[in-house]
Amino acid sequence: MVRELLRMGHPLLLQHAEPVTAFGTPELAELLQDMRDTMADEEGAGLAAPQIGVSLQVVIFGSANNPRYPDAPAVPFTVLINPELTPLGDEEQAGWEGCLSVPGMRGVVPRWQRLHYAGFDAQGVRFERTVEGFHARVVQHEVDHLLGVLYPQRIRDMRQFGFTDMLFPDWQSAGR
Ligand code: NI
Repeated sequence: MVRELLRMGHPLLLQHAEPVTAFGTPELAELLQDMRDTMADEEGAGLAAPQIGVSLQVVIFGSANNPRYPDAPAVPFTVLINPELTPLGDEEQAGWEGCLSVPGMRGVVPRWQRLHYAGFDAQGVRFERTVEGFHARVVQHEVDHLLGVLYPQRIRDMRQFGFTDMLFPDWQSAGR
């Protein structure tokens, strides 16, 4: 079911989310289905449970030919629960980000270029990956939601923050 998205300003988006303690449950399956439906409906590249009002450490992400991110490389669809991130090296990369909780806007955010992450799937099976570039960016953005951080808080140069249709007038999906 497509759920209502909380937008920046709602206090739940500033909270630390609680870890999931029971895997493979109908409740978790329903939450994940609602998250997938909501992300697909909004053409998002990722979604965190707090964005639909559930303060649990659950994120989903993945993209292939996403009109909101026309130049982005494909990231496999992933369910990541109780995540742990570890930056690899100290190299950062600046890149444009948007967020379904900050509709119609984009900003340049520095993120770790390479990182290792670990967590659990819906059945409670632990997995880990070493990633870089856009994949690493998406994970950092989504995990930030679980810490109560929205990407505008990470912007260092506020001149590189604005409305998508003003910044990128040629994009087909400008304004999303
Ligand atoms: Ni977001």
